[in-house]
Amino acid sequence: MVQPRVAVVGGVNMDLVFSAPRRPQPGETLVGTAFGTFVGGKGANQAVAAARAGAHVEFVGRLGADDFGRDIAAVLENEGISLRHVIRDAEAGTGVAEIVVEPDGTNSIIVVPRANGRLSARDVARARGAIAGCSVLLLQLEVPVAASEAAARAAKQTGATVILNPAPAADIPATLLARVDVLTPNEPETMQLTGIAPHTPEDAARAGRALLQRGVGAVVLTLGERGALVVDEDGAERVPSFEVPAVDTTAAGDAFCGALGVALAEGRSLREATRFACAAGALAVTKMGAGPSLPARQEIERLLSGQE
Ligand code: RIB
Repeated sequence: MVQPRVAVVGGVNMDLVFSAPRRPQPGETLVGTAFGTFVGGKGANQAVAAARAGAHVEFVGRLGADDFGRDIAAVLENEGISLRHVIRDAEAGTGVAEIVVEPDGTNSIIVVPRANGRLSARDVARARGAIAGCSVLLLQLEVPVAASEAAARAAKQTGATVILNPAPAADIPATLLARVDVLTPNEPETMQLTGIAPHTPEDAARAGRALLQRGVGAVVLTLGERGALVVDEDGAERVPSFEVPAVDTTAAGDAFCGALGVALAEGRSLREATRFACAAGALAVTKMGAGPSLPARQEIERLLSGQE
């Protein structure tokens, strides 16, 4: 099979991860139980997820000209990801994220974008050739929306599939939504975008339809342990998740989106691709940290064939 090609235009962070019994209250100092630094950022995570799932990946973004930037570039290159369109920014540091992981695996995250916030439409225009050579483009909302819009425009000119993971939740201009083939919000993002909490199957389908009306081609709502709901012109269909022990949910959504992109680039249907992505997302919650938890293709296929 020809290797699928996926472009990612997005954010990259150094994640500073604290395990703790809970989040501290205002004014409180709490003793944590573990600490680690990991390559993260939704763009970089989705790039690594796509590379491990089998794609050639072109990453477009900005790193600082600092130690974090150097270390992250080495890790991404080691994954085989092309960084020819990653700018080393001398004016701003590499993006950082403070992540607290609680004993049940849930996390809370503060991101400071730094260099990510300086990715421009012009930077993306320089990478047009690389984006045009890919059949899927993955976007998130951790870089300025003008950069994402420029990338979506470039991708649509060559007929690529544009996947937008609307994270972290923010207002999305109609001009960007009109170029999105697949939107992948999680529950809080769905709530923020539609005002509908997708707690019941009916409400989830209603929220998906409300998003379709805003101009996207299809919606895949990610519902954690309830799996995912595909909503498109053919209707709404739930794709179940896989039962796994939860250690750290960080980057589960990124694993999902990276794998979804690869499966669509391989020509699978949206429902088949969503099942592949659900397996990748489930595997990602079984390990600590963003980068280390993103599964290899073999692991995804093993889970899908019921051998885990
Ligand atoms: O989706 C998880 C990611 O969100 C983390 O890696 C962190 O950097 C934030 O961008």
